[in-house]
Amino acid sequence: MKSILIVDDEENIRETLKDVLEDEGYAVFLAENGKVALRILDTHVVDVILLDLWLPEIGGMDVLKMMKERDSNIPVIIISGHGTIDTAVRATKEGAFDFIEKPLTIEHILNVIDHAIKINALKEENLALRQGNLNSYYMVKGSSDVYNGIEKLISSCAHSNSRVLITGENGTGKEVVARKIHEMSQRRGAPFVAVNCAAIPQTLIESELFGYQKGSFTGAVSDKKGKFEIADRGTIFLDEIADMSLEAQAKVLRVLEEMQIERIGGVSLIKIDVRVIAATNKDLSHLIKERQFREDLFYRLNVVPIHIPSLRERREDIPGLLNYYFEHFAHESTNKMKVLSDEAAQFLVQEYTWPGNIRELKNLVERLTILTRDVAVGLEDVKNNIPYLHEAEFLADGSFVYNEKDGLREAKENFERNYIVNVLKKNKNNITRTAQVLKVERSNLYKVMKRLGIW
Ligand SMILES: Nc1ncnc2c1ncn2[C@@H]1O[C@H](COP(=O)(O)OP(=O)(O)OP(=O)(O)O)[C@@H](O)[C@H]1O
Ligand SMILES: [Mg+2]
Repeated sequence: MKSILIVDDEENIRETLKDVLEDEGYAVFLAENGKVALRILDTHVVDVILLDLWLPEIGGMDVLKMMKERDSNIPVIIISGHGTIDTAVRATKEGAFDFIEKPLTIEHILNVIDHAIKINALKEENLALRQGNLNSYYMVKGSSDVYNGIEKLISSCAHSNSRVLITGENGTGKEVVARKIHEMSQRRGAPFVAVNCAAIPQTLIESELFGYQKGSFTGAVSDKKGKFEIADRGTIFLDEIADMSLEAQAKVLRVLEEMQIERIGGVSLIKIDVRVIAATNKDLSHLIKERQFREDLFYRLNVVPIHIPSLRERREDIPGLLNYYFEHFAHESTNKMKVLSDEAAQFLVQEYTWPGNIRELKNLVERLTILTRDVAVGLEDVKNNIPYLHEAEFLADGSFVYNEKDGLREAKENFERNYIVNVLKKNKNNITRTAQVLKVERSNLYKVMKRLGIW
């Protein structure tokens, strides 16, 4: 079911639109001003926004900008009054999808909404195709003994229903392993549902995981299935499991014990048939000692433990990965396949520490494929494309490294990246604490980290 957010200060317009749109089968959220609208966007999935430009307090144009900053993918349709066409046109320049003039005709509104949804679906499809979604979970076979051991473990546990707990540093391939297990199991025809427990605001974890019943709280305008229900007959991947609050942990534990869930506001228990795979980059035994992670939940999850060692602990695997990704990105970008000089290869295979593991390797190879001009890639090219290499210099005296290639934008990004990486280190990679220190929402911090390539 698609959902629409209506932002208008006139109650009768909101209510009339709501009736019409609900009749058409949309879920509808209502906001009387920008603040309420932004709050709804922070907590709900919205497919299309109808936005009036004349709003009290924060004006519609500013609301539009804030919406676009949060998520530029949701189409915003402007509702404009008489004589405000100019502004409406300006709004489309600011990224609004289209505008409709008052008085509103129902047919026109429905058409524009339908159009917006279709165009967006196409955009997403293209994006998924471009990113080669399927390819992005390809698993290069390992040459090291440890990785071969992991591959064996995967095939031997895939057919059972046992729970698996995957541990390993950032970017070591925990999700790749989880998906592989799902693909090799009899559950492969059913969904694999990945839940990033750290990226969901704590207040929403319950509704995300268990869903809710229409009317169980303000804003619950329709029934919503939770991730456990969506994953029925398939696999649920609970990622970053250590970042769940103790409260959420208690709820998940109950579900794992009973294998049934109750939607928020629901009246009955729903049986679920789900295989649970969890992952974390944290040391759970340490967190258990500090009473931040429940020991009973740990035992429930840790039936088959799979630990993926960091790349620097299994350097034999690096050449195969480099090869695969140089070929992959050459193919994708239609650039010639690059060739590393002996010096560069030696540095990457034998010396570099790879703090970001396979994810970092993949990003580096993509940059080298696109950014370097010659087919031959030397040691300097490689070092210039590793953003963290100069990090120590960068913060030692609070100054920065001047790099003539960087414009203000790159410089800002470098600063942001280094700052976040350092605060993360200071807080032992604890995202919650880092977000508090940086005074940002934890889920937002994740988005920023992703954008900057830290995560
Ligand atoms: N064996 C592999 N072969 C090829 N690519 C891999 C392999 N393992 C991981 N990758 C790639 O490395 C990247 C990181 O993998 P993944 O997202 O599974 O790591 P992760 O351990 O879940 O990381 P994080 O802790 O940061 O979430 C992905 O882009 C993935 O495609
Ligand atoms: Mg992951």
